Amino acid sequence: MWFTGLSGSGKSSLAVGLERAFFELGARVFVLDGDNLRHGLNGDLGFSDEDRQENIRRVIEVAALFSEAGFIVVTAFISPFQVDRAGARGAIGDGFHEIFIHADLEVCEKRDPKGLYVKARSGEIPDFTGISSPYEAPLEPDMTVNSGEEDFDTCLAALVNYATQVFDVAR
Ligand code: ADX
Repeated sequence: MWFTGLSGSGKSSLAVGLERAFFELGARVFVLDGDNLRHGLNGDLGFSDEDRQENIRRVIEVAALFSEAGFIVVTAFISPFQVDRAGARGAIGDGFHEIFIHADLEVCEKRDPKGLYVKARSGEIPDFTGISSPYEAPLEPDMTVNSGEEDFDTCLAALVNYATQVFDVAR
């Protein structure tokens, strides 16, 4: 389950919610997101286009390993570039699901849970996605979650519903 969306769109929170739901259903599930990857394995990477590309390349490799081990993997990265997400689909093959966690920039910027948009606007943080670095929205995602308009529980329920069907997890 490859989540993509702007910072503040809800990717990580929804990934954790989905993880809990899978866990309760007895499915083996693993979440990869910036918090557990960018501090360790990808701690040497910043936010230039090249570094983001390398970030995603490594995420794909780790996701493939866990997937081969029989885990349902949920990834929560901005993954702003279409070409990299296409690469992920190609590498993972069947069972890859691109999920657009869709909240408009205005909504994410208003939420600004980590205070990063303010810093991006002032120029304190360069190359910030949506402000000074591009975000290429998915053209044909397997699913879109309107996290800018729907509340968290509604979004999570839609994800759980979708995921239990495509992964054949008994509810
Ligand atoms: S990605 O573009 O390489 O996929 P990733 O999802 O790993 O990004 O990390 C995004 C998170 O890093 C954001 O949610 C935010 O908390 C933080 N961050 C720090 N600097 C930036 C930046 N310049 N652009 C986007 N996010 C940033």
